[in-house]
Amino acid sequence: MLKHWFYSLLAARHFRYGIKILRDLERKLISREARFAIPFAYRGKGYFRIIEPRQNPFEIESLYKAVCELDAKRILEVGTARGGTLYLWTQAAAPDATLVSVDLPGGDFGGAYPACRVPFYSEFAREQQTMHLMRTDSHQSATLDEVKQHFSDHEIDFAFIDGDHTYEGVKQDFEMYGPLVRPGGLIAFHDIVDRPEVAGLDVHRFWVELKEKYDTVEFIGPDGSGKKIGIGLVRVGSEGI
Ligand SMILES: C[S@@+](CC[C@H](N)C(=O)[O-])C[C@H]1O[C@@H](n2cnc3c(N)ncnc32)[C@H](O)[C@@H]1O
Repeated sequence: MLKHWFYSLLAARHFRYGIKILRDLERKLISREARFAIPFAYRGKGYFRIIEPRQNPFEIESLYKAVCELDAKRILEVGTARGGTLYLWTQAAAPDATLVSVDLPGGDFGGAYPACRVPFYSEFAREQQTMHLMRTDSHQSATLDEVKQHFSDHEIDFAFIDGDHTYEGVKQDFEMYGPLVRPGGLIAFHDIVDRPEVAGLDVHRFWVELKEKYDTVEFIGPDGSGKKIGIGLVRVGSEGI
């Protein structure tokens, strides 16, 4: 009992410390461009120690710039884990945007996040933004219904698909959430580079199929930029998905 109380107190203290570090960084780095650095530079404590994106910095910066150009009002992320990319979308989005994150507790491919991080990620939202954090399976039809509800049945500007990396998993995410994205909007996929050394990664197989059908761009880090993981971007045409 006493031990539980002690750890709750410690977690609350680490939470407050994390928010302070984040707000200090935001005070120093004002522009959208500069704020790209924040989740990489942030260092907190305990459960809130890091929010670094699980990304090649060159690749995610290229995507960040593309999303900034959209000035998006509605953004969906499937696969949030440590929260780094979710933080970036709050900065790239319009000041009054709605953001929805779906991440499965105990999910594969990156470790999900504990419930105590919910209030922390909620603090990523800027003053007039709304953040919905759904800790659930993106493949359930009830999840799709709830996502639509959070966006009040409006089309969305950008979807980042970085959850289940199996062929069937990523395909299902695209088929369920792709049609929500408006013409002119963007859908991005992480892990489009074939990396046979990592078991179960099959996004590259699905990406090959998408490239044949849609207007696409690839962001792949140059030599020396770290591990090449690859981000694939679909530019949604006038007919939608
Ligand atoms: C690679 S991580 C996301 C990384 C994050 N976007 C970043 O760049 O920092 C993948 C996440 O997808 C989640 N995930 C796996 N399968 C899922 C599913 N079916 N529905 C929702 N989330 C899922 C995992 O829990 C994990 O947190």
